[in-house]
Amino acid sequence: MTPDLRTGYLGLTLKNPVVISACPLTERIDTLQKLEEHGAAAAVFPSLFEEQIEREEMELHGLYETGAETYGESLSYFPDMVDYNAGSTNYLRMLELAVQSVGIPIIGSLNGVSRGGWVRFARSIEDAGAAALELNVYGIFPDPARTAADVEAELVDLVTAVRERISIPLAVKLPPFFTAFANLATRLADAGADGLVLFNRFVHADIDLDTLRVAPNLVLSEPFESRLPLMWVALLRGRVSASLAATSGVHAPADVVKLLLSGADVTMTASAIYRRGPEHVRTLVSGLSAWMTENEYDSVEQMKGSLSHAHAPDPGVFERVGYMRTLASFSRWMP
Ligand SMILES: Cc1cc2nc3c(=O)[nH]c(=O)nc-3n(C[C@H](O)[C@H](O)[C@H](O)COP(=O)(O)O)c2cc1C
Repeated sequence: MTPDLRTGYLGLTLKNPVVISACPLTERIDTLQKLEEHGAAAAVFPSLFEEQIEREEMELHGLYETGAETYGESLSYFPDMVDYNAGSTNYLRMLELAVQSVGIPIIGSLNGVSRGGWVRFARSIEDAGAAALELNVYGIFPDPARTAADVEAELVDLVTAVRERISIPLAVKLPPFFTAFANLATRLADAGADGLVLFNRFVHADIDLDTLRVAPNLVLSEPFESRLPLMWVALLRGRVSASLAATSGVHAPADVVKLLLSGADVTMTASAIYRRGPEHVRTLVSGLSAWMTENEYDSVEQMKGSLSHAHAPDPGVFERVGYMRTLASFSRWMP
């Protein structure tokens, strides 16, 4: 019997748990159609950024010169961002076109960290036909005067504001670096997040020793990076009411299998598709199906969370015990 690959995510029923993560691949209609053809169950559109929307607003009202200080340097990158996602007006048109061009659900994405007029775009994304909205709260907070509590309260407030504007499901994509992540996850779910997407992958700046300049550059992920979402998905499964999506390091069918066992409702992938092309989706989906048959799982629903913290035979491995044990296992290792 062929295993049932369907999975529930954000209240949607997806045909399998392989979703294309937010990235420019999903806004190219020909690529999107190929991703669908090879079995992708849904796709997240690249993000539209708070700063872009605010800048357009200022231009519209002739406030750009006076208001430019507000967003400081980030605004000087605006032309680059238009290359990235065509700017806010075109974004909605392209999203609408994508929704019409494929049968799979398309999830819109907004990227921002503070409550503001830009949040109204959540509604525009819904109106463009998105099946759900992913809110990416990629933030770096270098001001020593701002406490963790301040930052978290603002995020919760932002999620509340976005939730109020839409009736489609809302997922929140988060970075992993919070002190009490489980507590924040619960509060975000209480504020109306139907799903949590774990995790944002930071694009770190590097120093170019030839030019002595600091510049960010994107490095595609490696499979070991799925360990971080695996741990947090396992810890949160059953503890938060929200759906869980795992992103970072999903490269092979084994990564999909492990993340589902730990408790993910879906796995999301971008780097592996950049490296191997849209046909790699088929490898992921058929590899998952083959593993399930071999291991006598009838359905993805049955698999989900069977090795989460609550169900693992040895739950301590997800916590401090695992850390100590791992270090101890290296005690006799010599270079
Ligand atoms: C070229 C590229 C562009 C991306 N753009 C976005 C984006 O606009 N919004 C977002 O939430 N994530 C973005 N991401 C992050 C991915 O959605 C994903 O979370 C991350 O790459 C980890 O998954 P991976 O290991 O499969 O690459 C981007 C990733 C790549 C490689």
